[in-house]
Amino acid sequence: MGETIGDSVVAADPRKLLNVAVAVARRAADLARTERTAGVAGVSTKSTSTDLVTAADRAVEQLIVDLLRARRPGDQVLGEEFGLGEESGSAEKPAGPTGATGVRWVVDPIDGTVNYVYGLPHYAVSIAAEVAGVTVAGVVRNAATGEEWTAVRGGGAWRDAQRLAGSAVTDLGQALVATGFGYDSARRTHQAAVLAQLLPRVRDIRRFGAASLDLCFAAEGRVDAFFEKGLGAWDNAAGGLIAEEAGLRVSGLRGAPAGPDLVLAAPPALHGQLHDLLVALDADGGP
Ligand code: IPD
Repeated sequence: MGETIGDSVVAADPRKLLNVAVAVARRAADLARTERTAGVAGVSTKSTSTDLVTAADRAVEQLIVDLLRARRPGDQVLGEEFGLGEESGSAEKPAGPTGATGVRWVVDPIDGTVNYVYGLPHYAVSIAAEVAGVTVAGVVRNAATGEEWTAVRGGGAWRDAQRLAGSAVTDLGQALVATGFGYDSARRTHQAAVLAQLLPRVRDIRRFGAASLDLCFAAEGRVDAFFEKGLGAWDNAAGGLIAEEAGLRVSGLRGAPAGPDLVLAAPPALHGQLHDLLVALDADGGP
């Protein structure tokens, strides 16, 4: 399914969807950065007292929804802050599971909100396009630095003109592994127990604070692998495609697809080793 021209529906071209995503992500990132320069406003909490949302998260998501609806009316938008759009003030309601066109946008307006609040230059706009439930295009843009990663399914992963291929490290003991933690303290207790067993078996651990950027870093080989339990679709939709297109395996554990229980992204040579260790450590278990 895709764009409607006259009475007929033509397949949505992933490259055109990427062009839309990139144009919208750049406007959104500009807004996030200028809002940050003006000062952090409207900070409140969401799932727990450590899970922050700011006025900028909402303003940036609203901008993204408005720009996507103007360019691609009929598509569905799933965002971190407004869900399927019911709170975005739009009169237009989603027409079905993927909207009238078969296209669903999956949006994180500011991934790395805690970094944003603290002024750490590591927060991103993440926009992915799904067609019939499959992610076909995605962009992640670090709003603070302007670094931008893109991918179209089947077309490789890119940062500017550089094609990405992930890390060449083959020994888990030499791997720099990025991860992240949820906001619920019981979940963190479990994640800390996993980490305590993992840390002695790898080169080191990194916790940067924005899962979409972790996945782009893994795609680029700035870290060797990434895993995290508890991510939302908006955290890993675009970054997951970028990692996959860089040649990484992106999965859950025990044959499960990447999802809320676990997202593991690693080059093929590391994936099996890290997968088996994470299974042994029950990384997708606990609360
Ligand atoms: C969070 C970041 C963080 C990850 C958390 C996410 P947010 O997203 O991606 O790195 O560890 O699980 O919730 O809240 O900043 O959009």
